[in-house]
Amino acid sequence: MTSSSTDTLLASIRTIPDYPKPGILFRDITTLLGNAQAFRRAIDELVHPYAGRKVDKIAGIEARGFILGGAVAHQLSAGFVPIRKKGKLPHETVRVAYSLEYGLDEMEMHKDGVAPGEKVILIDDLIATGGTAEAAVKLLRQIGADIIAACFVIDLPDLGGRKKLEALNVPVRTLMAFD
Ligand code: PRP
Ligand code: ADE
Repeated sequence: MTSSSTDTLLASIRTIPDYPKPGILFRDITTLLGNAQAFRRAIDELVHPYAGRKVDKIAGIEARGFILGGAVAHQLSAGFVPIRKKGKLPHETVRVAYSLEYGLDEMEMHKDGVAPGEKVILIDDLIATGGTAEAAVKLLRQIGADIIAACFVIDLPDLGGRKKLEALNVPVRTLMAFD
């Protein structure tokens, strides 16, 4: 990515101190999504390493991974599968508990959301501790997905999420980092 692309994307992120808890600097991508040029650039950057490669499904993590993942799936002519907070999916699911920078939760996906051996890219807006993405990797592998990469707009490297995923042999791609 060129430095001007990175600068455009970085400048489009809004930072909100003490949200949702004191001490958290919340990196808000709604301002990126609302900026047509930045939104297009982010999707183009997420997509370009995989253009022309076989990708069966994009797995998007609730909630912001749905917005980015839907656009990426469209660009790659792949299907989309939602990974959701517990209790939201109507059919048979696999479920896993996970911890966040600011709490605990459970997530699930449909058992038949990905067929065994399908090539999947995991998408979310941000990786912090990596707890959410690690849980998504566990769900996808439980049902036999072949995870070719996990992609995020924002990395918070001090919280160690990228290393956690790389230790699981998942290649990680991020578009920018905040200390
Ligand atoms: C945020 C973000 C990631 C997760 C990253 O979602 O969108 O999914 O936190 O944190 P981690 O790497 O420490 O696990 P959040 O849990 O705030 O849920 P939301 O998108 O539904 O608001
Ligand atoms: N998810 C976990 N940590 C976050 C942060 N600092 N900003 C936005 N989303 C997050």
